[in-house]
Amino acid sequence: MYNSNDITYPLISWYKLYKRDLPWRRDFNHANTPYNILVSEFMLQQTTVNSVIDHYNRFIDRWPDLKIFSDATEDEVLEMWSGLGYYSRGTNLLKTCKIINEQYQGKVPNSMDILKTLPGIGDYISSAIVSIAYDMPSQAVDTNIQRVITRYFSLKYDDPTKNKKNVQDIIFELTSHDSPREVIQGLMDLGSKFCKPREVHCKECPLNDGCVAFSNKFFDYSKVKKQKKIPIKYGYVFLIKKSNGSYMITKRSSKGVLANTYQFPTSEWQEEIQIQGLIKSSRKNYGAYHEIASINHQFSHFKLELKIINVTKYNSEFLDSSITFGGKWVFPDELNKMGFSSLMKKVFPYLGY
Ligand code: ADE
Repeated sequence: MYNSNDITYPLISWYKLYKRDLPWRRDFNHANTPYNILVSEFMLQQTTVNSVIDHYNRFIDRWPDLKIFSDATEDEVLEMWSGLGYYSRGTNLLKTCKIINEQYQGKVPNSMDILKTLPGIGDYISSAIVSIAYDMPSQAVDTNIQRVITRYFSLKYDDPTKNKKNVQDIIFELTSHDSPREVIQGLMDLGSKFCKPREVHCKECPLNDGCVAFSNKFFDYSKVKKQKKIPIKYGYVFLIKKSNGSYMITKRSSKGVLANTYQFPTSEWQEEIQIQGLIKSSRKNYGAYHEIASINHQFSHFKLELKIINVTKYNSEFLDSSITFGGKWVFPDELNKMGFSSLMKKVFPYLGY
């Protein structure tokens, strides 16, 4: 067994002096704090702190409290989310805040059971809110915390689910004794500054005294997660222009990384290049379109190359109807205010070709 003070005492002392200065950590006595933590945790799922900071600041400037945000539209949120990826997080955050506004008097619940009934909130976000916003014990374990605790105790990692459960039990114990807010965020900071996946700076770490990995000079966890080779996918994006200068746009379905965002009509994205897949290949249509450029985009799980096809003669038989389904016509100057992903914004410079 271990004495939790051996961890929490040096950790909290270090955190008070050296914590990262992150925008959602400021103003802790401010009435909006749980809302700020809710917004930050939605953004931080699957996205690094550095990529989140600017979006978070703009979001809070525009919607400083939950009541104001609850009046936002889905398209406004998607536009604000542009560049962050995993857009369903944005639409779920809006749904969650509307429910909190209507059913919980605008106050973010502090119960994990209630939080988990809300859209987009699972074990991790509910625990993080309970501990970081309300300073209550929880099992909040993200990948940084999992790595730090696994190394500190030299826990087994052959079964990652079992390992996580072990770490969660330890975190519950640690947060039951001392400030949960500081314990959780302190461990996150150690994971990002000193105890990185493939690099350690143990001399500077406040927990080096009791750390088993440090005394054994053996950082097993770093070898377990191998970087996967990510596939390349290919597809087409169609610039379909009417003679009045408007372009056809469609809305993506509610699934996938770009859920609900607007786009120019696109083919499916596939791992092999299928040039004719969706263009009806009757001879009379050749020459009605041409390829003007291609754009590349990096998602976390794959790379994408999209060829931009200018459709100069629009004719409903020309493109597969599944591609233009639900299409509406907008003028280029309206596009910037709509919820386009950063991928689709790369197409904007090619309008008017
Ligand atoms: N990653 C997820 N939540 C975080 C937080 N509150 N601070 C820093 N990194 C995080």
